[in-house]
This record gives sequence, structure tokens and C-alpha cells, in this order.
Amino acid sequence: MDSRAPFGDHSGMELKVRSLSDEPALRTRFSDFHRQAWPRFLSEGDGTGGLFHRIYSDFADFQFGVWDETGALVAVGNTIPLICDGSAADLPPDITEILERGLAVKQEGRKATALSALAAIVDESQRARGLSTKVIEAMAALARQHGLKTLIAPVRPSLKQLYPLTPMERYITWARADGTHFDPWLRVHQRMGAEILRVAPKAMVITDTVARWEEWTGLRFLETGNYVVPGAFQPIKIDVRRNTGRYEEANVWMRHPVKG
Ligand SMILES: CC(C)(COP(=O)(O)OP(=O)(O)OC[C@H]1O[C@@H](n2cnc3c(N)ncnc32)[C@H](O)[C@@H]1OP(=O)(O)O)[C@@H](O)C(=O)NCCC(=O)NCCS
Repeated sequence: MDSRAPFGDHSGMELKVRSLSDEPALRTRFSDFHRQAWPRFLSEGDGTGGLFHRIYSDFADFQFGVWDETGALVAVGNTIPLICDGSAADLPPDITEILERGLAVKQEGRKATALSALAAIVDESQRARGLSTKVIEAMAALARQHGLKTLIAPVRPSLKQLYPLTPMERYITWARADGTHFDPWLRVHQRMGAEILRVAPKAMVITDTVARWEEWTGLRFLETGNYVVPGAFQPIKIDVRRNTGRYEEANVWMRHPVKG
């Protein structure tokens, strides 16, 4: 994939999209972007069955960077092709199964039917300029290019972490006066014509020792209970006697139109 300005022009930026296959040096940059984007318990904990790194070795065509006209890498996108008919019933329950399904399709030499988004990350210094739409447009272009008729996305609403006591099912119903989603990241998808299919209540589950959770969060957990921690969509459950902390993250499955 190598394209210049394949998008609309509302930001006035000329952008270039290139895949990891085209730019192998991009591999380390993905790690930088992911480290910057997520709370430590997500980037260092294993919520994806130890499989996430396989997207770089097995699906390099489906990982891409976005460069601006100055040559700066301003965003990255991760996706994986899999078999899914795009109905709510056929969606994988979690990120691990998205990866497993994609890997199985490749191993069995079958033909994928859908593209699943895995992550869209805009560099911190480049946010709030409309770049996120370009990343999703690049994903849709990738789906078209590979003849995949469905684009699905397990979306992490960006402001959910500020409302950890509200169940995701309620949060996604919150709307602004103009009827659009309250959450800005859900709004980006909505504006692009995507629809919500369902909530995936355990899209990622991270379980580790109490000490590890203390290290990740900078908090102390001296007794068993539920704790609100920065960056988490809902409280984490600490069990001091069993020496475990467990976090279940809900994501929101959305389906995008793949036109053309
Ligand atoms: C989520 C993310 C991709 C958005 O990228 P972005 O390029 O900054 O977003 P945009 O400039 O396109 O803005 C999208 C919407 O969010 C709003 N927005 C941007 N920054 C915001 C902030 N800090 N607080 C509230 N709203 C914000 C914008 O106003 C816009 O909404 P509107 O057009 O309806 O007004 C980016 O914040 C990011 O990389 N976050 C870390 C990784 C992540 O969470 N990725 C998504 C899950 S995979």
C-alpha cells in the first residue's frame, strides 16, 4: 500500500500511507506509538493472549503508518483480516479471538472476508487535528484493496476512562444535544457511517499480581476490593489473599461501510 493524499482534505494536510511491508523500519515505531497511547496495564499486561506481536510478522501488509508532508510519522493503524460476516452474532468475543481467527485463516490458506481494526493511534503532538478520520479511511481503503467487504472495529471510547462507574451499555447511549454520540471517538466512527453492533464486555482481560498492579498504577492496594484506577474503563478487582488484580475491559463493536 503506497498512496498519497488518498483522503478528503478537511485538515489541508497531504498525507502518505505506507504499510509495514513497504517500510520495515516502521516496526519499532509501532511499539513507540503503543507505549505512548495506553495506560501501563494495557501495554505491559497481556490482554491479547500473547498474540498481538504476530500481526507484525504475519500481517505486515495490514499494519500501516501515516506521514505528513514534512515526513513526520503522525499516526499508525493496526488491522487483521479474518472470516466474519459482520453480523453481531458472528463477532469475536474478544481481541484474542480476533487474532486467533486471523491467524487460523492464514494458516489454513482460506480467504478472509472481513478486516478488523485493532488500533488507531495518533501521535500525541498531532491530536485534535482530524487525523483519526484519516486513519479509519486508510483502514477502509485497505479492506477495499484486499477485496474484504466488511470493516469491523472493537472501539475503545476515549472518554470512558473518566466515567468508570457507568456501565459501557449505558455510556454508549449518552448523546449530545445534536443527537451524536457523547464520546468523541465513537462520534468519529458514527460520522463515518459506522453503526454499533454490540458491546464486547470482556474484550480484554488482564490479570496479574497485586505488586504488578501497584507498579502499573502507582497506587497501593492494601485490602481486597474494587478500585478505580486511571485509564481503566471500570474498577479493577483486587484480591489480596489470592494476590491477584483483574481488569475486564469492555469495547464497543462497530461496523463500517466499505464502499466501492
Ligand atoms: C482517539 C484518537 C485516535 C483520536 O485521534 P485525533 O486525531 O486526536 O482525533 P480527531 O482530531 O480526529 O478528533 C476526533 C474527535 O475527538 C474530539 N477530541 C479530540 N481530542 C479531544 C479531547 N482531548 N477531549 C475531548 N474530545 C477530543 C475532537 O473534537 C473530535 O470530535 P468532533 O469532531 O466531533 O468535535 C487519539 O486520541 C489517540 O491516538 N488516542 C490514543 C489511542 C486510542 O485511544 N486510540 C483509539 C482506540 S484504538
